[in-house]
Amino acid sequence: AFLGIDIGTSGTKTIVMRADGEILGSATVEYPLSSPKPGWSEQDPEDWWNAVVESTKKAIKSAKIKAEEISGIGLSGQMHGSVFLDKSSDVLRPAILWNDQRTAAECLDIEKKAGGREKLIEMVANPALTGFTAPKIMWVKKNEPKIFDKTAQILLPKDYIRFRLTGTYATEVSDASGTLLLDVSQRVWCKPLLDKLDIPLSLLPKMHESEEVTGTVSAIAAKQLGLKAGIAVVGGAGDQAAGAVGNGIVKRGVISATMGTSGVVFAHSDEMQLDPQGRVHTFCHAVKGKWHVMGCVLSAGGSLQWYRNTLGLVEVADARRLKTDPYNLITEQAAEAPAGCEGLFFLPYLTGERTPHADPLARGAWVGLTIRHGRAHLIRAVMEGATYAMRDCLEIINELKIPIREIRVSGGGARSQFWRQMQADVYGRRVVTINAEEGPAYGVALLAAAGTGEYKSVVEACTATIRVNGATDPNSEAKRVYNKSYPMFGKLYRSLKPDFP
Ligand code: XUL
Repeated sequence: AFLGIDIGTSGTKTIVMRADGEILGSATVEYPLSSPKPGWSEQDPEDWWNAVVESTKKAIKSAKIKAEEISGIGLSGQMHGSVFLDKSSDVLRPAILWNDQRTAAECLDIEKKAGGREKLIEMVANPALTGFTAPKIMWVKKNEPKIFDKTAQILLPKDYIRFRLTGTYATEVSDASGTLLLDVSQRVWCKPLLDKLDIPLSLLPKMHESEEVTGTVSAIAAKQLGLKAGIAVVGGAGDQAAGAVGNGIVKRGVISATMGTSGVVFAHSDEMQLDPQGRVHTFCHAVKGKWHVMGCVLSAGGSLQWYRNTLGLVEVADARRLKTDPYNLITEQAAEAPAGCEGLFFLPYLTGERTPHADPLARGAWVGLTIRHGRAHLIRAVMEGATYAMRDCLEIINELKIPIREIRVSGGGARSQFWRQMQADVYGRRVVTINAEEGPAYGVALLAAAGTGEYKSVVEACTATIRVNGATDPNSEAKRVYNKSYPMFGKLYRSLKPDFP
């Protein structure tokens, strides 16, 4: 059996997977997030390690197998976070996370030092975003020089766990892509940019492909985790690439549209495809020698969550009485309004937006209300707005000439038939569902199986375990309505943008 460990933002999830893909057990252990100043977001790496130890023990117990049966481990985690270690490998300060917003000035500085935004995109395939790792390093360098002077190694969250498990400093190409320090086309650290930013190469770990074995579990770690020493730990992947492997997004033409709180549209690509405007992320994939392009909508399901928490209190109360999920009642109501909501639009930018606008100051809005519009329209417009935002990502992928043959939907936006139908209608394409719903931890368990020889390749591991189990085709009338409304969605953002406070 194989372990997949995902060091998430709210907790660590560990699963035990049998070689044929069957999940035998899983456990999640949560930890806090601290925000010592507005816009800051930090965690204590020791909390991650404790959660890894506890969730691994619990997952193995729930799987009812012997620890000796574990033959490989895959690591996944929140991307972009930075752990600063001194020369004795002690943590120097709390880790700065992907959703930390303190680095706006450093992003500008990096673009300037790189010789402009276009030059930066040429070097590392992406523009500087506050969430990425390099701006965090520059921030520590400027604001905490004493800590930077003592820094001997900088690791991503899952790679810190790898160090605790194996004693080695190593990373892999998918997660490293999100540092802004990787030459994404050559899959090596970008020495020219490191020089311009004056960050010594020696601070960064050794680079691997995602399925490669990076080390083995040490005797000390084995004792803590109740595992045998010597188990292979493969590279693993950042949570988005890992989740994509877990959805079988490992071939040209297969795309995923995942709507959780945020929404992600993820496309595999055989060659590196750059968006010169930097609207989507271009990263190395967890499939050897392949890439992916990814669009990120910050409040997809999050918009409906906001509706539930603010205006949906009636549905929440009714749901309690009827012993059902409030989202069932909310979507039932949405279905009473027609597609296109009779001209009512919702902009889902409740937490700013990444793709396509890269605009942290963007705001949400309902636009186009008349006296005819009721609750059903308000809800339906929220769902349509979030789905249009997902279509924005698909349009860019299409523009980059990445073929879109199959769209696999998952997350909250795929749970109801109503929202699946809306996705098919808004995208104007068939959407399918698959049998696996376990996310990043499952993806890296598959990487561990492939990397230790259980399968010949990641693609073979996915083909053997992941199956399409449902399909929804667009309704031609609704598709026509949405095709007409969709351009207005982009237009409304552009006209409101100058006036967002
Ligand atoms: C990816 C991203 C998030 C984090 C947190 O670019 O910022 O998905 O990895 O989960």
